[in-house]
Amino acid sequence: MKIYIAKDFFQLSKKAAEIIQDAISEKPDLVLGLATGSTPLGTYKELIRMHKEEKLDFSRVISFNLDEYYPISPENKQSYFYYMKHNFFRHININPENIHVPDGQAEDAESHCKVYEAEIRRHKGIDLQLLGIGENGHIGFNEPDDEIEVLTHLTKLSESTLRANSRFFDSKEKVPCQAITMGLGSIMKAKKILLLASGIKKAEIIAKLLTEQKATTNIPASALLLHNDVTVLLDEEAAGIYKMKIKNQFSEG
Ligand code: F6R
Repeated sequence: MKIYIAKDFFQLSKKAAEIIQDAISEKPDLVLGLATGSTPLGTYKELIRMHKEEKLDFSRVISFNLDEYYPISPENKQSYFYYMKHNFFRHININPENIHVPDGQAEDAESHCKVYEAEIRRHKGIDLQLLGIGENGHIGFNEPDDEIEVLTHLTKLSESTLRANSRFFDSKEKVPCQAITMGLGSIMKAKKILLLASGIKKAEIIAKLLTEQKATTNIPASALLLHNDVTVLLDEEAAGIYKMKIKNQFSEG
């Protein structure tokens, strides 16, 4: 696991965008896994700048989003489809046919999950997966639990996620209580993973993940400790407790 600590959110976003830019330069038909939420917004902004000012070409890139609320319509401003369209896709030259976001209106969610997983396979898997992390250690909507769902599936959101995500809705009651998400297995099959964490709220979970070095279903992100190509990009705030802990480890040892 490579750990990179950036000065602030802007530098973190710049570094993340550069990693994605390099991957597209190396493989113009990159299969790119994407996340929503607050953390990747700066990365998308920088990628849009690169597209406009440096001609970064997305025309052959194939994207797969991690998750979508269920049920939700793509016109709903809180849907992840809407988020992706307005914060990223409509500003770059990605081919709409190459965009994949789980369908929040699928009549049969379970068979849609199977089709989504098969589509990823048809494209020979995800080359580079961008991830954020929940305060409870979730990735995608893989919430802490006793068991791990391996493939794309319909899931119930945990209380802590409903609370965290209510900031985007009028109230906690308006947050859909289910979502379609790639499973931990779908994520772990990505060839390369880029995990971003920014801000003080992520400091505790990041310190736990990076110092304890234990894989547990109570921290779904800890599965990433088993992957052989993960880059963790933090800003100073998210890295705060981790830095303190490793400093103490050195002074104790
Ligand atoms: C979003 C997703 C979630 C978020 C996580 C962090 O597609 O899969 O796991 O990455 O909840 O969200 P933010 O970035 O808003 O703190």
